[in-house]
Amino acid sequence: MNGAVELPGDKSISHRYAMLAALAEGTSELRHFSAAADCHSTLDCMSALGAEVKVEKDTVRVAGRGAHGLKSSWRALDAGNSGTTMRLLAGILAGQNFPSKLTGDDSLQKRPMKRVIAPLREMGADIRGRDDNFAPLEIRGTKLTAIDYKMPMASAQVKSAVLLAGLFADGVTSITEPARTRDHTELALEEFGVNVEKNGQTIRVHGLARGNGSGKLTAKSLDVPGDLSSAVFFLAAASLFPDSNVLIHNVGLNPTRTAILDVFAEMGASIQMLGLKSSQGEIIGDLAVKGASLKGGVIGGARIPLVIDELPMLAALGPYTEQGIEIYDAAELRVKESDRISAVSENLRRMGAKVEERPDGLKVEGRHAGKLRGAEITPRGDHRIAMAFAVAGLAAEGNTVIRDADCAAVSFPTFFAELNRLAER
Ligand code: S3P
Repeated sequence: MNGAVELPGDKSISHRYAMLAALAEGTSELRHFSAAADCHSTLDCMSALGAEVKVEKDTVRVAGRGAHGLKSSWRALDAGNSGTTMRLLAGILAGQNFPSKLTGDDSLQKRPMKRVIAPLREMGADIRGRDDNFAPLEIRGTKLTAIDYKMPMASAQVKSAVLLAGLFADGVTSITEPARTRDHTELALEEFGVNVEKNGQTIRVHGLARGNGSGKLTAKSLDVPGDLSSAVFFLAAASLFPDSNVLIHNVGLNPTRTAILDVFAEMGASIQMLGLKSSQGEIIGDLAVKGASLKGGVIGGARIPLVIDELPMLAALGPYTEQGIEIYDAAELRVKESDRISAVSENLRRMGAKVEERPDGLKVEGRHAGKLRGAEITPRGDHRIAMAFAVAGLAAEGNTVIRDADCAAVSFPTFFAELNRLAER
């Protein structure tokens, strides 16, 4: 693997900028906005809610409606495959003065929404879902009341839904996380002019109606950093081949996202962070990666929420490592875009790996269990499974075929083109 990778803009940050830009006064310019289908679902929703959205290559201009200016959409808002769109938007919609319906694709309609329904209801929201847990969600916007929420799980999406609802609540909403999760919502709120207070693992936001600085969000011109969760596929691919030399420019290196780099370092990967600088609350830098012999390791505990999206790639590297890879405390993987524990186990086995699937994780045997063989992979419509197995397939004996590989576009539409460009054969 040789060359420089062009990453899409960070998916998590793009969602947040798009939502806040729609609530801001004035026109925001969001450069290097993610090409992910997920983020375009968010843009479509914000446009259906009245924001004017113009996309020109990877620059998105959003003419905001002001914090109290969104309007009702005559059709159901479609979050597509995107859990972030649905959960964060639920927080915003709960506090509007109109009703909304939020729906999504088959995968999203199977993912749990109770985690946001419960705290939003405590704030006074009127939300109904199928079996009280699944989309489509019917949300009758209403006046909300601030709460102090002790989050029962470590989830950035739940935290964000409550903070966004807090903008429309009377009083000061606070949320305490049991373990650290990505803080892009807090940083983005600050960028758009909202006063956010942090104290340990508690975050507080004032309702916009009362004394929250200017009581409004102000349009901004922002650059979205490259998506580290997408970069990870190239960090993995480059690590697998001894003579690799890959450079990844302008990657988002927010400390709540970089735990995966620590895991790679502990496994013996050769990754250097270069030219770190701070940019609009976020940290960006370049990553230089070379081939290395990977040791493998065991991952669990408070680290899991910080590396949750990278676990499929990590697990698929297991058979190429000395000791294998063991993941525990990660039952959350079962309710992602697919049941990722089952999807990774099944596809690794197809390639000849030795895998023990467990309720909260898996154990993948290392190199001693034999070489991986190319196989037919069914990613179950899950972008990260498709990409993880494309990388695993590169180093396997024989050809690997990824069925329905287009699903990679959910986060990284140009993934296969980039992988092909960097792979020297
Ligand atoms: C995300 C948070 C994480 C992550 C997801 C994106 C976000 O989910 O897995 O891909 O943008 O807030 P949870 O908050 O449910 O852990």
